[in-house]
Formats: sequence, structure tokens, C-alpha cells
Amino acid sequence: MGDESSVWGDGASAVAELSEVRRIYRMGSEEVHALDGVSFTIQRGEYWSVMGASGSGKSTLLNVLGCLDRPTSGVYRLAGEDVNRLDDDALSEVRSRNLGFIFQSYNLIPQLDVLENIMVPLFYQEEPPEDGEERARSLAERMGLEDRLGHRPLELSGGQQQRVAIARALVNDPELILADEATGNLDSQTAEEILNLFDELWREGKTLVFVTHEPHVAERASHVLRMRDGRVHEVTTTHRERGGTV
Ligand SMILES: Nc1ncnc2c1ncn2[C@@H]1O[C@H](COP(=O)(O)OP(=O)(O)OP(=O)(O)O)[C@@H](O)[C@H]1O
Ligand SMILES: [Mg+2]
Repeated sequence: MGDESSVWGDGASAVAELSEVRRIYRMGSEEVHALDGVSFTIQRGEYWSVMGASGSGKSTLLNVLGCLDRPTSGVYRLAGEDVNRLDDDALSEVRSRNLGFIFQSYNLIPQLDVLENIMVPLFYQEEPPEDGEERARSLAERMGLEDRLGHRPLELSGGQQQRVAIARALVNDPELILADEATGNLDSQTAEEILNLFDELWREGKTLVFVTHEPHVAERASHVLRMRDGRVHEVTTTHRERGGTV
């Protein structure tokens, strides 16, 4: 698709635009409508939280936003580009350059150590940055993992694995950061540090979307999207503003 950076140029300020997006899982003769006609727009620099009961479609929505999955029908435009028109290679390049994804289940690679896991997104880039390892080290430090760089995921606690996953999501300096329950397994102090980090990224101009079950965490965002049965139940705005201290 040519110069990928153009996708994120100064043009449209809509980062993610969903129009009647459906994601239907077919299980034999049964169909699960995990997303059942979802429409909303996230502007550049907004900070969204996603809430909803278990099974309401939050992870499915994040997977679509993060181009890990494609809509069954409907249109998803990422920075103006209809993702259904991009082939798998183009999508994976967009992902590795512009998106940071923190998974609900971490998805660390067991054979790689902490530093290597953090650097994984860089390996997918056509031209990885020269200072990649340096960035990975400084993120590891920011996450309090500097003395665990040589450990493999199984030699880490759940909270440490989660922090590796967060550092990995940030190593490519993404425009859009997607987090599925990023603070779910952390003690309250570490969770607070992660939320402060999200605030910092937001102030830097990043666009963030995160899933949470906790209302007081959801209220840290500028917009709260509530999912119900695969649909958008409501979108509310909080009074938080980028750079504000509310
Ligand atoms: N790979 C799949 N195959 C079939 N059905 C699926 C698949 N993934 C999810 N589903 C179904 O789609 C619906 C939405 O799932 P999803 O994982 O998006 O929910 P969620 O809101 O993230 O829930 P949780 O809070 O438990 O993480 C559920 O009914 C789930 O069973
Ligand atoms: Mg989920």
C-alpha cells in the first residue's frame, strides 16, 4: 500500500471509524454475534474506556480495532483507510508501526526472555529502528523490570508478565494503544502507575482505548463506551481533558 506513514498523516483526525461493524463467529450451525452492528468514531488524541459484562464483545471489539481480526460485515476505517481493503501483509505492517496492543492474556512468547519479548513488534517492521534495543531497555526500566531482562515469561509473576506485555505494546511508539484489562492482574499501586503512564501517553498526544471492569478506572478516560450483547449501549464523556488534572 505504499508509504504506510501516509495513513497517519495530518489529514483526517478520526483514528478509528466503525460503521455497522459485525463480527459473527460460526460454530457449526450456530452463529455468535459477538459484534452486532457497532458504530462510533474515535478522534485522534481521545482516551476511551470500554466496559460491559463478560461476553458483551469487548475483546472482539478491541481485536477488530487492533486489526487482529476483520469485521464480518460493516466498515472499519483506521486513520481513514478501510482495513477490509488491505491485504494481510499491509495490515501487519500497519499494526507493527502504528498500533500497540496489550492482550487480556499477555501472549508472551515462552522461549524468549523479557528483553526479546519487548522487542517482538520491531521484528515485524520492514525497517526496524536502530535504537530498538535501547528503547526496549528503557521501557523495561520504566516498568520496573530492569533486573528481570534475562527471565522467560514462566519465571515471572502475573503482574510482571503484564508489565512486559505493556512495554512490548509501547516499543514501536504507536499512535493508537489498545489495552484489554491491562490493570486486571496488578496490585493497586502498580495499577495506578500504569494508569498514570496512560495519562502521560495521552498528554503526549496518543490515542488510547482500554477495556476495564472497574468503573473508577473507566472514569480516567475521556469517553466511556458501554457494550451490551455485542452492541454499543451508550457512549458517555467524562470531564477529563488531556493535560488536565481532574
Ligand atoms: N473465537 C471465538 N469463537 C466463537 N465464539 C467466540 C470466539 N471469541 C469470542 N466468542 C464469543 O463472542 C462473544 C464475545 O466475546 P468477547 O471475548 O468479545 O467478550 P468480552 O466482552 O471480552 O468478555 P470478557 O469480559 O469475559 O473478556 C462471547 O459470547 C464469546 O463466547
Ligand atoms: Mg475479553
